[in-house]
Amino acid sequence: MLSPHSSSPSMAKPTLRHRASACLADVFRFLVGSFLALLLLWTFSSFFTPSPSNFDTLHPPSDFASSSHNSQNQYPSLAYDPPDITFYDDPKLSYSIQKPIKNWDEKRRHWLKHHPSFSAGASERVLLITASQPKPCRNPIGDHLLLRFFKNKVDYCRIHGYDIFYNNALLQPEMFSYWAKLPVVRAAMIAHPEAEWIWWVDSDALFTDMEFKLPLDRYKNHNLIVHGWSHLIYERKSWTGLNAGVFLMRNCQWSMDFMDVWASMGPQTPNYEKWGQVLKSTIPDKLFPESDDQTGLVYLLYKEKEKWGNKIYLEGEYYFEGYWEEIVTTFDNITDKYREMERGGQELRRRHAEKVSEQYGVFREKYLKEAGNGKGSWRRPFITHFTGCQPCSGDHNQMYSGGSCWDGMRKALNFADNQVLRKYGFVHPDAMDPSVSEVPYDYPA
Ligand SMILES: *[C@@H]1O[C@H](CO)[C@@H](O)[C@H](O)[C@H]1NC(C)=O
Repeated sequence: MLSPHSSSPSMAKPTLRHRASACLADVFRFLVGSFLALLLLWTFSSFFTPSPSNFDTLHPPSDFASSSHNSQNQYPSLAYDPPDITFYDDPKLSYSIQKPIKNWDEKRRHWLKHHPSFSAGASERVLLITASQPKPCRNPIGDHLLLRFFKNKVDYCRIHGYDIFYNNALLQPEMFSYWAKLPVVRAAMIAHPEAEWIWWVDSDALFTDMEFKLPLDRYKNHNLIVHGWSHLIYERKSWTGLNAGVFLMRNCQWSMDFMDVWASMGPQTPNYEKWGQVLKSTIPDKLFPESDDQTGLVYLLYKEKEKWGNKIYLEGEYYFEGYWEEIVTTFDNITDKYREMERGGQELRRRHAEKVSEQYGVFREKYLKEAGNGKGSWRRPFITHFTGCQPCSGDHNQMYSGGSCWDGMRKALNFADNQVLRKYGFVHPDAMDPSVSEVPYDYPA
């Protein structure tokens, strides 16, 4: 599958070197330029900022290098793409998941070097991806639900400064349904060399804690993070030992290689049927005979633990994604708890601009020390996943009534929306009702 030849462009090296040095000069001019701009900004802000100490807390006093990084971090140069040759200029490089890519880490690093305004903060940069089918939903309220699920993700990303990509084309037509995400993640990694993490979130999952942030520090030695439980995978060999509907993948060569292997169980390959049989016989509780991405991932962990396991983090501590039936019944109590918390904490009640919301999430942590995490906790669940509800097709699992799915979604969507609307001065007083009322000043004192 992997070509023995390097896929790097066969470009004339002297040209590259020449361009590289030309580029360094550009970078230098750029740095000087941004330093001057910063100086100007500083001068102006010291005129106009009534309390310079506030300004200092936003820009910790530091030497030139880090303050210029700081400004670059906040203002990546969206209009700057130097002529230097990068992997984008290699005609052999393909975005397709069927064409393996090599030396990706090097290619990404090289691109970042030529786009210095993106290097600061690169290790924490996240791109969220979600998707739905190319056609209208069969469920009459399906498209409306998907719109609200998407709005929720846009809200979360805006609050935390993440980019988001919504896809509704099948990039590899044979990779339908749950397989469709892999080609998108792969293409997004190439389209976004500035992002360290690609965060796949299924269309039927939503953020129910707008403040919680991914503990990226915890994942610094890992490349793929999924919600999962090792005993269910390694002892019970269960296909529900993890959930593949939400995952975080590092934008690196390891991930490229892993996806090649993972995708090789998919419907675009001649081995699809065979993989179905292998998965079904290895993972006893698998429900259906076709090869699917989630069982495939369990299989790879189980069978090739030595090869991949050490870079895959099974997150089980909090609701990296959580099962909706277990969660939706807890919303009312959680709402009460949070109201009580805000009654007792003036700093939490204070009105603020949406842009500075993260600070209030930090404030809240000290009130949540006793809350716990995940099942049985009264902390807001991070991501609620309507597994089995199929909002678009309406073909929900027969285990649930359609009504419980749609009511659960409405409730979860309003629960989340209240956290957002609050910053706009309004709230849904009733979790099942779309109408809103204005939030009184200093509510809920
Ligand atoms: C909500 O809280 C009440 C009172 O503490 C408790 O009796 C009830 O079981 C809780 N409900 C859920 C779903 O946790």
